[in-house]
Amino acid sequence: MSKTFDVIILGGGPAGYVCAIRAAQLGLQVAVVEREKLGGVCVNIGCIPSKALLHSAHMARVITNDAAALGITVGDVTVDYGVAMRRSRQVADQNSKGVEYLMKKHHITVFPATGTLQPGKRVAIDGDTLTAAKAVVLATGTRVKGIPAIGLELDRTTVISSDEALFLEQAPKSLAIVGAGAVGMEFADVFNAFGTAVTLIEALPRILPLEDEECSAALARSYKKRKIAMLPGASVKRARVGKGSVKLDIEAGGKPQTLEVEKVLMAAGRAFNLDGIGLEETGVQRTDTGFVKVDANLRTTADGVYGIGDIAGPPMLAHKGSREGVFVAECIAGQTPHPIDYGNIPSVTYCHPEVASIGLTEAQCTERQLDFQVGKFPFTANGRARAAIETEGFVKIIRDKRYGEILGAHIVASHASELIHELAVARANEYTVEEVDLAVHAHPTLSEAVAEAALDSLGRVLNA
Ligand code: NAI
Repeated sequence: MSKTFDVIILGGGPAGYVCAIRAAQLGLQVAVVEREKLGGVCVNIGCIPSKALLHSAHMARVITNDAAALGITVGDVTVDYGVAMRRSRQVADQNSKGVEYLMKKHHITVFPATGTLQPGKRVAIDGDTLTAAKAVVLATGTRVKGIPAIGLELDRTTVISSDEALFLEQAPKSLAIVGAGAVGMEFADVFNAFGTAVTLIEALPRILPLEDEECSAALARSYKKRKIAMLPGASVKRARVGKGSVKLDIEAGGKPQTLEVEKVLMAAGRAFNLDGIGLEETGVQRTDTGFVKVDANLRTTADGVYGIGDIAGPPMLAHKGSREGVFVAECIAGQTPHPIDYGNIPSVTYCHPEVASIGLTEAQCTERQLDFQVGKFPFTANGRARAAIETEGFVKIIRDKRYGEILGAHIVASHASELIHELAVARANEYTVEEVDLAVHAHPTLSEAVAEAALDSLGRVLNA
């Protein structure tokens, strides 16, 4: 049997399902092929449940550390990861059901199956063939991975990934996390709050190595206070996985050491879901780094086949994938959408304090020999942050001296994920730092720190 749609989308994550909605809004007949739950990794085993756990972790710390000062008397504070985990599952399920509802609302046909790309804009599913009149969109995403070469094969009980961490009934006594990128940092925060002895192992010289150095340093200080052990510049040479523990031979700073832990959580990048889905047979080529090769309009090397989301290039972020989904839907519908500015995609790590950034780091500005001025404002000098006992962190704005352009912005703060968007809007519209200051910022707010950092880059800070 053959069914025809205008657009067939492989993958119902934040890239695929958003593409489907936008295409349906533009009057196209759309099918989504998804073998797991709608919403993909983000909704089911990524962004959403991890934020629920991070909220539990944050509340545990606030209640333990600040309740008395806040005038609240509590008894002994105990934590139960299983309870927090189950709440996080409810949140994830609610979101996945939300995506199901959106598919129905927009009359999008969902096939709960594995799809394989075939020549002629066709997709094979369970002995059936779907044909796309206009385009097929690949949005199959990525999955967790281990490093089998050094003995860190995911066995899913002792050597685990975020997939398993999100379903544990109880927090392990000790945990080594390999990789201090977004996943590693977020789970270190969570498990530390639930009583696990956490060691973060990062191959590059600092934790959160892609962020501005000052952000990494601020988080390192914060984690150190919480007794999260960090081994930057460290590599695992060999892992010996036993029944209920793992021994890791590590080289850190040129010195060998051995660490024995109950579990290891792999957070050292992700693998593409691209094998066996018909890429070679249909002429969809890949780059040297494994992404699907796409042009500026996200067209792959096969006629009528687009690639979006994690598989289409960095950064591997849900919001980047969603924007690509909208862009491609509009291209397929014959529109000429505004190009995506890949230099202006915010990056957020939702540990506490949160780290959010956009644009260039200070080191990148120096490397490019730009003429810039750094403005900085600490939350210790912000009234709202003091009121909430959330004074860790700062706002840093890098201003181009000649034109006042916002070259980059870096925030470490309790709500950095929310604060960054003022600067995202400013940069998207090419506002200068001076124009950010023109807007009156309400008092008392954390956002005043953004205005003050802008002023500081002009040499006119008021409250520090
Ligand atoms: P990642 O690529 O962001 O970070 C992995 C880290 O592991 C890197 O810092 C790398 O230097 C380190 N590493 C690699 N091999 C290592 C080794 N053998 N030993 C020690 N360290 C090693 O990958 P991550 O954190 O797994 O996240 C996967 C993707 O998902 C990323 O693209 C990330 O941006 C995205 N993501 C985003 C989140 C957010 O926006 N809050 C949350 C979770 C994931």
